[in-house]
Parts: sequence; C-alpha cells; structure tokens
Amino acid sequence: NEIYLQGLGGQLPPFTTDPDALEGSARGRLGPGPFWYVAGGAGSGATVRANREAFDRRRIVPRMLRDATTRHLGTTVLGTEMPAPVLLAPVGVQSIVHPDGELATARAAAELGLTMILSTASSHTIEDVAAANGDGSRWYQLYWPNDPDVCVSILSRAKESGYRVLVVTLDTWSLAWRPHDLDQSYLPFIRGTGVAIPFSDPAFRAGLAKPPEEDMPSAILRWVPMFTGTDKSWAQLSFLREHWDGPIVLKGVQHVDDARKAVDAGVQGIVVSNHGGRQVDGAIASLDALPGIAEAVGEQLEVLFDSGVRTGADIVKALALGARAVLLGRPYVYGLAHGGQGGVRHVVRSVLADLDLTLGLAGFRSPAELNRDALWERA
Ligand code: FNR
Repeated sequence: NEIYLQGLGGQLPPFTTDPDALEGSARGRLGPGPFWYVAGGAGSGATVRANREAFDRRRIVPRMLRDATTRHLGTTVLGTEMPAPVLLAPVGVQSIVHPDGELATARAAAELGLTMILSTASSHTIEDVAAANGDGSRWYQLYWPNDPDVCVSILSRAKESGYRVLVVTLDTWSLAWRPHDLDQSYLPFIRGTGVAIPFSDPAFRAGLAKPPEEDMPSAILRWVPMFTGTDKSWAQLSFLREHWDGPIVLKGVQHVDDARKAVDAGVQGIVVSNHGGRQVDGAIASLDALPGIAEAVGEQLEVLFDSGVRTGADIVKALALGARAVLLGRPYVYGLAHGGQGGVRHVVRSVLADLDLTLGLAGFRSPAELNRDALWERA
C-alpha cells in the first residue's frame, strides 16, 4: 500500500527490484570484478541456472473465496521469532560490494526485524557487526577451522556477542572451480577494509610471526589451509556441540541420507542449499532436493532452504515443499551494492511485500497453510 500511495504521489522506489533488472543494474554499478564475485557460480554455471529452472517448473495453484485478506507471515525458528519466514544468508567479504559491508546488512536486518547470519569470512569483526545489529536477531555461520583453538575462540566470541544459532557450512571445505574468480582479482576491492575475520581473531594472530597488517601474504597462507582441505567427519560434530550450547544448523545438505545423518548427529536444523550454485557444478537444483528431504526429516529437525530465491512466489513454493523458512542470498547483496543499509532494506522489504501479496492472492493466510497441494509441477 505504501508503495502504491507513494507512486500516486509521483514518488518512485529508489531502484528497481525486478530480479533480472536488479542484477543488471548491480552489474553496472559494481563493475566486472565485484559483480562476478556475487553473481558467479561454479564451473559452467549449470547449477545456478538449475536453481532458477526448478522454481520455474513449479507453479502456484491459486484458491478463491477463502478470505485471505488478513495475513500472518510470522514464525518462530529454533527459538528465534521472525516477522516473516526469511533470513539473510551468510555472504562473505561484503566490503567488496560496499564499504559498510556486513555493518549495513546488520542494520537493515535489525530495522526489518529479520535474522541475519554472519559469515566467518565477514569483512567486519563479530563484535562490530553485533554492535551494528544492536537488539536485532543474529546467527553465526562457521567455516569450521582445522585449528581447534581458533575454532573455540571464534565460537566463544560469537556466543558472547549474542549470536543465537550456529550455522555450520559443510559444502565449502574447498572453494570450487569458479572460472569468474580466475578472470579477475578481487584483492583491489578488499584492500582498505580487509577481511577482519579471522585475521582479527586473537588465537589466529597468535600463530603468526607478524600481524596481518604487516604481512598479509603470510596471514593468507595460514588462513587458507586452516579453513580448507578439511578432514572433518560426522563424528566430529560432537566437538562443536561441546563448544556451542545453542542450536546448531548444518548448511549445504542435498541428499536425504545426509539429512538423516544430521538427525542422528543431534543437530537442530539443516539448510537445504547448494550454496547458490557456487560449489558443485552440475549439482541437483536445491529446490529439487527439498521435498524428499523435508518429507524424510521435517518432523525431526527444522528444514531451512536456500539457492535461487528471488521473489515472493519463490518463497511460497519453497515453503509449500516443506521449508520452514528461506535464506535470501544474492538479491540483498545487490541491494547493498545500490545503497548500503537503505539498499538492503529496499530489496528485502520488496521481497516481503511480494510474498505477502502472492500468499494472499493464492488464497493462503499464513505459511502454515501451505503444502504440496498448493503447487503444480511441469514434468
Ligand atoms: C555466499 N554464500 C556463503 N555461504 C556461507 O555459508 N558462507 C559464506 O561466506 C558465503 N559467502 C557467499 C558469498 C557470495 C557472494 C554469495 C552469492 C553466496 C552462499 C549463501 O549463503 C547462500 O547459500 C546462497 O547465496 C543462496 O543462493 P542465492 O539466493 O544467492 O541464489
């Protein structure tokens, strides 16, 4: 209503939120290096495309005369109250896109009452992002380091800074083959703000001969093997449980058997995700993986979803296929590129307004009313 009324008064929204046009204008603003950091996928880009195609293959079947004039989008996930079933996905090194990076995202999330998930690869420290987020709701995403002291240090800082849920990303124990990453260097865009985590971490710094400010190449040489080439197993999740007393969510699950293993490991949630098509080129579309997983384990733990969500209709489809909530990735980062905190707010509010209207016009009053019956699927 607000947008329509402002439009009648001749006031247009600050920039387009049509998904394709938004990506196009972000490309113009960012230039090729930062743009491809965000937009790029693994290998040929087959999974980035498959994620979108899987949404396109499914259609909502609207229902009539059901009085959906009043809607309630709110939900609670793992003890976190949410005004809508949407979280901001962990996205690393946001200073590549805007100098305020994660601080802007944290402020926008707090304004909207949404939960942000802070990446281990954040450009700003755990503590600074928490301060920017204030009374807002925040979860912490872990790239699980091989050094237990660094791991415990990061976890305790996150806990002390008010991050409620630990999201452990499983699918990025090595960065994928990403041709776009080889086409241009992001370093010029990172310099000046720096990657604060874990370079700011006392346990990480203790292992360096010189601080990263004086010798960045050596710090990077220590960081890369510590956060990649992992030897982790399902059994080792007990280490994280010992050092994190809140809920734990595993991000990057695509196979039903892995979802069952997550139940056996005693975690509280999973994110069905293929990292926005940035890891395994040719991987199954995340939306295609969702229904089987939700059916198998949805009663035992919280099933969240991401990869390819662009519109309100996409969110309706993911919820109908069994997700409790979705993580939004690239769209809010394009918002960040357009105007920091205000840009993130504008994109996310638009997606939420779209969700609210689409849900209502399809004849549903709340996400809880959605199930597979709401969808038609092209063979
Ligand atoms: C990511 N993603 C990600 N995930 C994570 O667990 N830790 C991270 O640091 C990052 N960093 C990151 C950077 C960029 C530029 C992108 C686009 C994505 C993956 C992210 O959390 C999420 O899974 C996807 O973005 C979801 O797909 P869509 O919505 O971007 O299609």
